[in-house]
Amino acid sequence: MELTRNALITGANTGIGRVTAIELSKQGYRLFLAGRSLQRTQAVMDEICAITGRQDAAHFLPLHLDDLASVKACAQQFLDTGLDLHLLVNNAGLAGKRGSTQQGFELAFGANHLGHFLLTLLLLDKLKSSAPARVVTVASRAHRMAFKGVPWGKLQQSSSSLSGVPEYAVSKLANILFNRQLAAVLSASGVSCYALHPGVVATEVWREVPRFLQPLLRWRGMLTPEQGAQTSLHCCLTAPASESGLYYDKCRPVSTSAAASNQEAAHRLWDSSMQWVKDFL
Ligand SMILES: NC(=O)c1ccc[n+]([C@@H]2O[C@H](COP(=O)([O-])OP(=O)(O)OC[C@H]3O[C@@H](n4cnc5c(N)ncnc54)[C@H](OP(=O)(O)O)[C@@H]3O)[C@@H](O)[C@H]2O)c1
Repeated sequence: MELTRNALITGANTGIGRVTAIELSKQGYRLFLAGRSLQRTQAVMDEICAITGRQDAAHFLPLHLDDLASVKACAQQFLDTGLDLHLLVNNAGLAGKRGSTQQGFELAFGANHLGHFLLTLLLLDKLKSSAPARVVTVASRAHRMAFKGVPWGKLQQSSSSLSGVPEYAVSKLANILFNRQLAAVLSASGVSCYALHPGVVATEVWREVPRFLQPLLRWRGMLTPEQGAQTSLHCCLTAPASESGLYYDKCRPVSTSAAASNQEAAHRLWDSSMQWVKDFL
């Protein structure tokens, strides 16, 4: 199979990211799979190489989103290939795990938002020079739980809730605010960007939630990872460039919460994130 385009996806060893990577490879994308463990990513890489019949169809990039130094090294490792980048999928996410990142940010906010913010920023020039290109960020309907908006005073401390769920909601709110501001920054660049809710999908995403809460997070009718990857794939492959900056659910643009539509918060998050990552640019 001819590989005509390059994509970098985070968290593709399992769940929604795994299916997204495999389906993108069928569309002629060379895949860079960024994650915490080569060992856990090897099976997906083997599957992609078998599908495409090419050994160079899948590459592993080490990435710990909770450490900005690791994010910088990951971006640099991709840039060192000298290849174009046509698609960045900010897919990885942790939920219900409490703590803080290497640089002292609340863990979910630091990994799900700030890690992806820095990764995107470091790859932005490459995306622009490879245009038409896309950035797809997997957010969540859970952003609605953060109805009070971004808790600015709590972002640079360890998680304060018992479950980690409120912090997860804030991180997903940040994904949507980031996507909106990114679209403004990228206007007329040939790079479009999309945020999305994948549905409620039976993956490992809640593995870190305290055991007593786990039954509440599992119910019948959850989507399979194959079904859960459909909106990501729609944003990666077919959503029109004119819909850049929008938030998708079930493969179509939908409205966000009021907190996620707050333009002032989107600006403030962008400016603050820029300050927080400036030592890694
Ligand atoms: N499943 C749902 O119902 C649902 C609903 C709404 C939104 N989402 C979003 O969908 C995206 C994909 O999640 P999923 O459901 O497919 O979950 P998943 O199966 O748990 O996959 C999450 C991926 O993120 C990676 N990851 C976690 N923390 C990381 C870190 N610090 N650094 C680098 N990679 C990290 C994981 O790597 P390891 O294997 O190394 O842990 C894994 O590859 C997430 O952004 C999630 O928030 C999921």
